[in-house]
Amino acid sequence: MSLRGVVLAGGTGSRLRPLTKVTNKHLLPIGHKPMIYYPIEKLTGIGIEEVLIVTGVEHMGDVVGLLGSGREFHCRFTYKVQDEAGGIAQALGLAENFANGDSVAVILGDNVFQADLAAYAGRFVEQGRGARLLLKRVPDPERFGVAEIRDGRVVGIEEKPKAPKSNHAIIGVYFYDSAVFDIIRTLKPSARGELEITDVNNAYVRSGQLGYDVLEGWWTDAGTFESLAKANDLVQKEPPK
Ligand code: G1P
Repeated sequence: MSLRGVVLAGGTGSRLRPLTKVTNKHLLPIGHKPMIYYPIEKLTGIGIEEVLIVTGVEHMGDVVGLLGSGREFHCRFTYKVQDEAGGIAQALGLAENFANGDSVAVILGDNVFQADLAAYAGRFVEQGRGARLLLKRVPDPERFGVAEIRDGRVVGIEEKPKAPKSNHAIIGVYFYDSAVFDIIRTLKPSARGELEITDVNNAYVRSGQLGYDVLEGWWTDAGTFESLAKANDLVQKEPPK
């Protein structure tokens, strides 16, 4: 199975204003690097050579100016514009031609974590098809997609539930086979007007093709002032592998 990488770096970054007034959230610093370097290095770290970056039109110029062709990262970048903030699943839908029938490893551009992805990617390749998610126990699951697990299987996922059925958050790292693009075509916008990645994942739950692992080491998103500060602390105390 050959894997291509996708980094989703769209959105308005409204929770980080005014830091995001003139630039994209994913270009803000964490430790000594721009945020978006972390997900890119996780993908290139498992030997992925083709990486698609999806971002909004407002800051695409800055993103390309920072990242260039990919030569410095030992990969090749492809860039796609997401015209409006229509959700993670909509952004992933833009990757269909890029994926060209291959499977994809997708990382949300504001997810920063310690572990190497090799073991998880390896288990997805062994799984052979479907989707594989990474989970992490968190104290505040209501901020995330939350997995309900029964007898070692994910039986359902709820997006930002008021009464979470577990403390297993779905982190922003997803492995999908090429069927993901057919699933995205069937989605309807959620109450917040977005195509939800949680709806994609629930489609794989229904077809019995969703695997998961619990991520080792630390993990945080970095989309709020609090989590951005936490990400800064973590990368300096225990640098990602
Ligand atoms: C998104 C997903 C959510 C996931 C989270 C991980 O939420 O919708 O399921 O748990 O990323 O960072 P967002 O942070 O875009 O609201």
